[in-house]
Amino acid sequence: MWPELILISVLLLSLVCGEVNVAHPNPSEHIISASTYSTTTTTSHTKRPNIIIMMADDLGYGDVGMTGNDTIRTPNIDSIATKGVKFTHHLAASSVCSPSRAAFLTGRYPIRSGVAPSGLLRVMTFVASAGGLPQNETTMPEILKEAGYSTALIGKWHLGINCEWQGDFCHHPLNHGFDYFYGLPLTNLKDFSGDGNTVMLMAKPNMNVGLGCTVLVGTLVTLLLRRKKLVHKAGFYALLFLTTVPIGVFYLVMCDMTFINSVIMRDFDYIEQPIRFDNLSQRLVSEALEYLTARSHSGQPFMLFMSFVQVHTYLHTADRFKGRSRHGRYGDNVEELDWCVGELLKAVRRLGMQNDTLIYFTSDQGGHVEERGLDGQREGGWNGIFKGGKCMGGMEGALRVPTAMMWPGVVPAGRVVHQPTSLMDVLPTLCHVLDVPLPANRVIDGRNVWPLITGRADETPHDVMFHYCGRDIHAARYSPKDENAVWKVHFATPKWRAGTQGCDFVCPCYGSTWIQWHDPPLMFDLVSDPAETTVVNVSSDAKYEAILRHIDEAKLAHKQSLVEVESQYSFYNTMWWPWLQPCCNYPWCDCHDEKYDNFSYPYTDNDAWS
Ligand SMILES: *[C@@H]1O[C@H](CO)[C@@H](O)[C@H](O)[C@H]1NC(C)=O
Ligand SMILES: *[C@@H]1O[C@H](CO)[C@@H](O)[C@H](O)[C@H]1NC(C)=O
Ligand SMILES: *[C@@H]1O[C@H](CO)[C@@H](O)[C@H](O)[C@H]1NC(C)=O
Ligand SMILES: *[C@@H]1O[C@H](CO)[C@@H](O)[C@H](O)[C@H]1NC(C)=O
Ligand SMILES: *[C@@H]1O[C@H](CO)[C@@H](O)[C@H](O)[C@H]1NC(C)=O
Ligand SMILES: *[C@@H]1O[C@H](CO)[C@@H](O)[C@H](O)[C@H]1NC(C)=O
Repeated sequence: MWPELILISVLLLSLVCGEVNVAHPNPSEHIISASTYSTTTTTSHTKRPNIIIMMADDLGYGDVGMTGNDTIRTPNIDSIATKGVKFTHHLAASSVCSPSRAAFLTGRYPIRSGVAPSGLLRVMTFVASAGGLPQNETTMPEILKEAGYSTALIGKWHLGINCEWQGDFCHHPLNHGFDYFYGLPLTNLKDFSGDGNTVMLMAKPNMNVGLGCTVLVGTLVTLLLRRKKLVHKAGFYALLFLTTVPIGVFYLVMCDMTFINSVIMRDFDYIEQPIRFDNLSQRLVSEALEYLTARSHSGQPFMLFMSFVQVHTYLHTADRFKGRSRHGRYGDNVEELDWCVGELLKAVRRLGMQNDTLIYFTSDQGGHVEERGLDGQREGGWNGIFKGGKCMGGMEGALRVPTAMMWPGVVPAGRVVHQPTSLMDVLPTLCHVLDVPLPANRVIDGRNVWPLITGRADETPHDVMFHYCGRDIHAARYSPKDENAVWKVHFATPKWRAGTQGCDFVCPCYGSTWIQWHDPPLMFDLVSDPAETTVVNVSSDAKYEAILRHIDEAKLAHKQSLVEVESQYSFYNTMWWPWLQPCCNYPWCDCHDEKYDNFSYPYTDNDAWS
């Protein structure tokens, strides 16, 4: 009741005070010209590659050819592995988008930046909420910009926009080191499909009935109280208001995510609302190609973070790729993603930058195994032999992501890295490559894996890695020195629905209904048993107890290294607030990006995809 009361009071207050801010001209100090991008000059003498980071959303380990899938066609993604290094043990730092991306951009466990969810909402859920990546985190684009790079984000952000008012842009990509942003401040959501399927319905199928009953019972009780003369007229209206309006607002917010969340921004402007999904992927590719072309003439190195909307639901796929795969809507979407990757690779070649460009492809976490369409068709990824999937903090299926990196002439072609590495390693590895210092005054959890990539080392620099679910450590993996071994322990595992490897829509991180805690923890030998089929009997050999002890000590030291920071998932930071709601043309909030009116992608023969 309290949250609702607060929500409704602030809503009223903001309406009364006319506080609903219309999209605002930008604070001038933030303006960075999009057409010229950045013009800082590099001061370094070392050879600095261009960097293209491509991140898919929810792509499963087993969804691509390079990891052994022989029925889905991903020739372009696979070509990165052929021309460079493939990682078979690359781990997301979280099983869900916002924390995983926060960790990727900062090289730190999400809990350090407060982007570690404690409750039901585990990602930034509304464009109009106050949480996001804190301003004082040092991000990869900030480091690169400092080193003389031009930086751009095209696609999905999902790490917050505003803090206190619509237009303060405290969490905006341009205030986190990007010179240019075109894309979704939040994310793609199945609600945007318009077919009536919503995240809330998937997560809480009976919510509508529950809300309806609450309103009905509340109204009846209020009427009864009035009839028995137990409340005065004013009290009656107040009660009636309280039993209906907060729930109405809640319903509108949760069940019409399209109206509030379907937005595209160019830099600080909300230019499209709701998103037109037709050709969206092609538009994002066009934006990327425009950026690459502009950069190729500049002599300044660049970093492009291409953050794809695929293969998250809503699975919108261009007509050209519909019905072409052997795996339904999901497979079509993966194949379209691969086409997008191919367009970028082709542009790099066409612009003669292939020897000067480091290209990294990964996914923010594993496939969402419970994801289904209204017709029951599977709409989530396939994690190969690995158990579980997205949102299951300690499960291998959530953490292992299909990953490859190429930089012809520098990174050996055809190399495979089997040792555990992390998305958090990208930041320190790039710092090493560029010979710039790591951010000072803070713990960086990622490690430089350049020696592993180039073949000068054969051991992971990680001793123990932790796998959080929300704010709890659900699993850890230990790679002892001088031993070809990786031990994984689960302190907690999700309780799956019988016969499946999933829960209802997502597995929560807490509560005894869905989580089983283990003491002693379950141990697996990931080298001989990557699919985690056989639990190691830890009392059968003293060596296992020593491993557990080592992990416990590491866990203690890790916990001691944590500093209490503001949670980006506090009540204030997760709720939808009307005064943070963007609206491109008040009060209609309905516009489209005119640049792409009548847009038609100039398809040419694209290698495998012609
Ligand atoms: C290939 O990917 C599809 C789509 O996710 C999946 O259904 C299929 O099982 C995968 N095949 C293999 C051999 O991994
Ligand atoms: C890239 O390097 C390869 C091998 O050194 C060379 O054959 C090729 O011409 C180079 N391409 C460009 C565009 O410089
Ligand atoms: C584990 O190993 C111990 C010692 O060898 C043995 O007593 C115990 O029965 C084993 N437990 C299981 C479940 O096999
Ligand atoms: C960022 O600021 C918050 C709030 O002042 C503080 O708790 C946190 O330690 C700071 N983080 C870093 C990395 O300086
Ligand atoms: C786009 O198409 C519409 C309808 O066909 C037409 O009215 C409009 O002039 C076109 N716009 C441009 C920029 O070509
Ligand atoms: C998408 O592109 C196709 C052709 O490539 C075109 O026919 C269609 O009108 C475009 N849709 C939108 C909304 O721009």
